[in-house]
Amino acid sequence: MPKNFQSPSGMHDIFGEQYDYFERIREVFFKVAKIYGFEGIETPVMENIKVFTRGVGEHTDIVEKEMYSFKTKGGDQVALRPEGTAGIARSYIEHNLYTRTQPIKFFYFAPFFRYERPQAGRYRQFWQFGLETIGKESPVLDAQIIAVMYNVFQELGIKDLVVEINSMGDSSCREEFEKVLKKHFKKENSSLCADCKKRIKKNPLRVLDCKKCIKVKESAPQIVDYLCIQCRDDFKKVLEYLEELNIPYDLNSFLVRGLDYYTNTVYEFFASGSEERLALGGGGRYDGLINLLGGEETPATGAAMGVERTILSMKENEIKVEKETPRVFIAQLSDLAKRKCLKLFEEFRKANVPVSESFGQGSLKRQMNKANKMNAEYVLIMGEEEAVEDRIIIRDMQSGQQENIKTKEAVKEIKKKLK
Ligand code: HAM
Repeated sequence: MPKNFQSPSGMHDIFGEQYDYFERIREVFFKVAKIYGFEGIETPVMENIKVFTRGVGEHTDIVEKEMYSFKTKGGDQVALRPEGTAGIARSYIEHNLYTRTQPIKFFYFAPFFRYERPQAGRYRQFWQFGLETIGKESPVLDAQIIAVMYNVFQELGIKDLVVEINSMGDSSCREEFEKVLKKHFKKENSSLCADCKKRIKKNPLRVLDCKKCIKVKESAPQIVDYLCIQCRDDFKKVLEYLEELNIPYDLNSFLVRGLDYYTNTVYEFFASGSEERLALGGGGRYDGLINLLGGEETPATGAAMGVERTILSMKENEIKVEKETPRVFIAQLSDLAKRKCLKLFEEFRKANVPVSESFGQGSLKRQMNKANKMNAEYVLIMGEEEAVEDRIIIRDMQSGQQENIKTKEAVKEIKKKLK
């Protein structure tokens, strides 16, 4: 067939085996998140652009280089969401969620958009599963988010995980640190890349994130030495909770994350042994975000994991997703049989017996092949003669034995056999 169209670069169709992985991650994530008291939320895929320029930060790569933004026909300046936290913060303010019992705990599983250079593990439309806890200040809530994500990965079979963790302090200790950092980078100006030369003026923390300026970074002052007593205590508590939960972590004083809203504890998840150092996910506290978007000062913390990267890691670890296949198959061999089998299929469905069919096929051989592929334990076969007599054949696929029963007995008989 001529292929006139392809999906846009960096955006993918999800089906077949990839969909099975996708579904498994969603299932496990929803189950674990609900146990910890999180509720679902869906926000629109686009927002007023200011939600992101103010929220994520005007001088971040995400906003400066990677955002899909445009003017609508009505003249509104909007952007496809590059991440989920800012939209949820907007929703928290818009719906007065601060009037409810705090904290509000949300989970989401959704697509996001960043105009990045497509490569393995980096796409222009990608999916995240995320958590946000808004409205209460306590280090135990940071540890809880890490624990939920850690447990999701454990349940998916990704056992060898490391959490890299740092504290970025609050706005006052950060101000002090940024001054010292600026001074250091100005001294080393000639060794900085062109982007970082610009970054030191507006956002010196971003230099710590740069993959090119490794040497200059290594000699830079470290934020942990500039934390105030409160921030240091909070960070220590998060680490103690992780130890209590046996969650392995590595301190990484260069970890500043690519979004400006973070304060205090920040972290990223890595699968140990993964060749590419791509984070499976990341998160942290963002006590200033709601205020930046026009709300009151509100403590908040959260994290999001990349679905495609989680799938890559599951495949690297040779983790298979077993699909539950129906144990019964209905085969039919004439027009009348097809009509009667359509009805019989509905009876099985209503009785909650998982059953499969191939009503589009006429040949018994093809239908039996499909039943075999599915490892069906029993096949119900109705030819013209059985259809006229209102009977059906049950074939035990293991022993090859067959019995001929009344069609109306089929559900009851199969239920008995499956027990
Ligand atoms: P982020 O680190 O920008 O954080 O993204 C989280 C994860 O999304 C990444 O670690 C990665 O697995 C995945 N991801 C990001 N960009 C791409 C891409 N282009 N292709 C494939 N996967 C990607 C956030 O988005 C924050 N909103 C997390 C958060 C929630 N912080 C607090 N609450």
